[in-house]
Amino acid sequence: MYMNFWYPVCETAELTDKPIRVRILKHDFVAFRDSEGKPALLADTCVHRGGALSGGKCMDDGTVQCPYHGWRFTTDGVCTRIPSLGISAKIPARARVDAYPTLDKYGLVFAFLGDLPEEERPPIMPIEEYETDGWRATVQTFNVNYNYERSIENGLDPAHNEYVHSTHGYNGEKEEEYQVNELEPYKNNDWGFGFMHTFDAPPLKNWLMKRFRKEGGKMQAGSGTYGPNHMWTYIHLSETMHMHQYMFEAPIDEATTKVFLVNLRNMAITKREWLNKFLDKKIKERNMFVASEDIKVVEKLEPKLTPPSTTKEMLMPHDRVVIQYRGKLKEWEQKGWRLDYQQLNEIKAQADVITAIPCPARREAKAWVLDPAPVYGALPEAEPIREAAE
Ligand code: FES
Ligand SMILES: [Fe+2]
Repeated sequence: MYMNFWYPVCETAELTDKPIRVRILKHDFVAFRDSEGKPALLADTCVHRGGALSGGKCMDDGTVQCPYHGWRFTTDGVCTRIPSLGISAKIPARARVDAYPTLDKYGLVFAFLGDLPEEERPPIMPIEEYETDGWRATVQTFNVNYNYERSIENGLDPAHNEYVHSTHGYNGEKEEEYQVNELEPYKNNDWGFGFMHTFDAPPLKNWLMKRFRKEGGKMQAGSGTYGPNHMWTYIHLSETMHMHQYMFEAPIDEATTKVFLVNLRNMAITKREWLNKFLDKKIKERNMFVASEDIKVVEKLEPKLTPPSTTKEMLMPHDRVVIQYRGKLKEWEQKGWRLDYQQLNEIKAQADVITAIPCPARREAKAWVLDPAPVYGALPEAEPIREAAE
């Protein structure tokens, strides 16, 4: 798990002026909209005596009020009122909680969980088709009981389709003709790598999808990453009918993940909105069916986290993008952005200490009540990464 990236918090429509508690990177946050409708995300732990701000309420002055003794915090995390001191009391500078930059984008609320100044922050994965003519978006979320890196690596794996997905492969029945074809590099950028490839896929049997793919044969698909927790998958059912899926994953902790899937399609769109809404629902059900095929396999992977050394697996040439993804993670670990989950677990086990993901304001103001979450020390140099088993 890495700080200094954008994480999905909830769907845009879910967030109101009623505070909610969300858990990301093994930390609790309070999310709410201020009086102008702007999303806010703060560390959930009140610095007075540990009240959960998410149990409080939003006030007319745009603050969130702690349910324990009524302290009020702005969307910048600054305490503006300590009622027990009287209405005109001066508020100590240390009375503040971590507050994170937020954005409404692609039907989701995102928060930047880290302390980098704006100009240094890695971007949110772009969705070029979003709100463009001929494309329609749906958003859906689901939780999985596995680590987000296992989830991302599964999405980057061209060899699992043949065995895991009835819609994309032949369940190994055509093994004599089967192999993973050439992976063409695609959408490589500063924050990740991707590929497209062509493979044999069966005709689609689902009543809706079979309209788009009646015959079996060559199909194009691919996927890639953007940061540690954003990834895309393109499924080209034919030359012109495309599904482009963008996954934004929020590690709840090292063993559970919330997946936010923004699905863009240039097919199954009609002139009638009621029918489009019906098709949206069917596409979402379809996506959940495909995801359930992955979940069944990935939740049983061992070890639960990817092994720290590639010598403890036998990676093949078609695992190239997985290896490239791990290379990127190593780069971010070198910068000191990787949370030390072992130390974090030890701290949590003590039950008398709580940490916070440091927010950008910690770069200027030095006195904070909560300790920052532990990170692995910045590394001098990345370990060389083996390309594939020999
Ligand atoms: S614990 Fe929040 S006001 Fe006292
Ligand atoms: Fe899959």
